Amino acid sequence: RGIVTIYRCHSQKSLKKLRICEALSQKETGEYVRIQGWIRSVRSQKELLFLHVNDGSSLESLQVVASSELDNRHLTFGCAVDISGNIVKSPHKKQNVELQANQIQVVGECNPVDFPFKVKERHGLEYVRQFPHLRCRTNTFASLLRIRSEATAAIQAYFKENHFVQIHTPVISSNDCEGAGELFQVESAGRDRSTDGESSGFFSVPAYLTVSGQLHLEVMAGAFPRVYTFGPTFRAENSQSRRHLAEFYMVEAELSFTDSLEDLLVVMENLFKSTTDCILSRCADDIALFHKYVAPGHKERLDLMVKNRFKVITYTEAIDVLNRSSEKFEFSTEWGCDLQTEHEKYLVKHCGNVPLFVINYPYDLKPFYARDNEDQPHTAAAVDLLVPGVGELCGGTLREERLELLHARLERMGLEDAYQWYLELRQFGSVPHGGFGMGFERYLQCVLGVENIKDVIPFPRFSHSCLL
Ligand code: 4AD
Repeated sequence: RGIVTIYRCHSQKSLKKLRICEALSQKETGEYVRIQGWIRSVRSQKELLFLHVNDGSSLESLQVVASSELDNRHLTFGCAVDISGNIVKSPHKKQNVELQANQIQVVGECNPVDFPFKVKERHGLEYVRQFPHLRCRTNTFASLLRIRSEATAAIQAYFKENHFVQIHTPVISSNDCEGAGELFQVESAGRDRSTDGESSGFFSVPAYLTVSGQLHLEVMAGAFPRVYTFGPTFRAENSQSRRHLAEFYMVEAELSFTDSLEDLLVVMENLFKSTTDCILSRCADDIALFHKYVAPGHKERLDLMVKNRFKVITYTEAIDVLNRSSEKFEFSTEWGCDLQTEHEKYLVKHCGNVPLFVINYPYDLKPFYARDNEDQPHTAAAVDLLVPGVGELCGGTLREERLELLHARLERMGLEDAYQWYLELRQFGSVPHGGFGMGFERYLQCVLGVENIKDVIPFPRFSHSCLL
């Protein structure tokens, strides 16, 4: 496999392997090392050949210098290489060190004519989206994947530092979290089908891909005061919108022994800020690449989001703001109506383009598990966090913990039998509790200023599209 282009033969096996980011930060020069990666550019000048090699460990590529006398026919943009040579001080100001190659092996060739990306060309996110199997080879998408990975670690770190226990809530579930979203039903592909063509059903009950881990977290909140889950979530929304996916990642937290919405607001705000702080410092170059192409002022706005307290308004105040504005809205702004994207956008802008908590929604808009505000008739202790450029980022409520009230509401909705187990949670050591969910891709959209949600997930799934 592969063509070996040997400049000066040397046994590679025993050599110290460096990741490109490690090679780039070498202080000592002269060391003989080995690197592996993909060529991002090739240029020959006089008797020298300059390659830029990247292995995904950093945005920056390592410059490799070789003699242009070597057989370089297969050293093309996109090909995979295994190179050994000496780390030397670079004469160029832009980089500290470079690799003087002694041996270059082409591990995997890449035909530059067929490769959809061209050297030194900036390809738009929409263009690279057409190549889900290759887009990780572009600088921008590789940056996104590094940021996504660091943001995941930062979220886990936030919860660990704040004594939350991680729960692996199921992907397949028999509850629909009371209409949190449109469901995908799960069926076995064959064996459980009876001979008359009727599906007996693998689970003997209808089963769905999860739309939210909330109810499973509520179970665990009966033994742990703070729990969270972070996993794939599925909604069969027939939407091509720039902020909806059929499969997305949701971060959900549930807190026991709380009867205050404020406790949820604090966790949402701190989670956002600590994750953002962390990726801004760990992925500065990658984030800067995104910020280069976003609307002016995005970076400054993000800095303010991390520094300043998020704003809070009630739903009633929000309706008042909408009704007093001179804007023509397509959807109703009467008290009792759900806030639509156009309303959310207006409210965020009106409040100074900063994150905005809208609290105390009409009780009738919220699912059966939402608790009412005893001191404010017809409202629920519910919150949505709205952020610039995206709209709704988080949604949460205090949960109804009083057995009689919950029972009555479920009975009215004809859901009493299906939720017997949920009612039992209120019989055995029930405590006031509440929680929220945050869309991970929407979070990344907000921080990076990315227009379309399909560009912040490795393999986007949406209606009429399930590539790979
Ligand atoms: O507001 P949602 O529907 O809340 C729940 O599912 C609650 N049961 C969570 C809880 O209390 N534990 O969804 C939470 C967040 C939304 O604010 C949004 O950011 C994201 O999930 N979200 C989506 N993201 C991408 N594509 C979709 N189709 C999404 N639907 C919701």
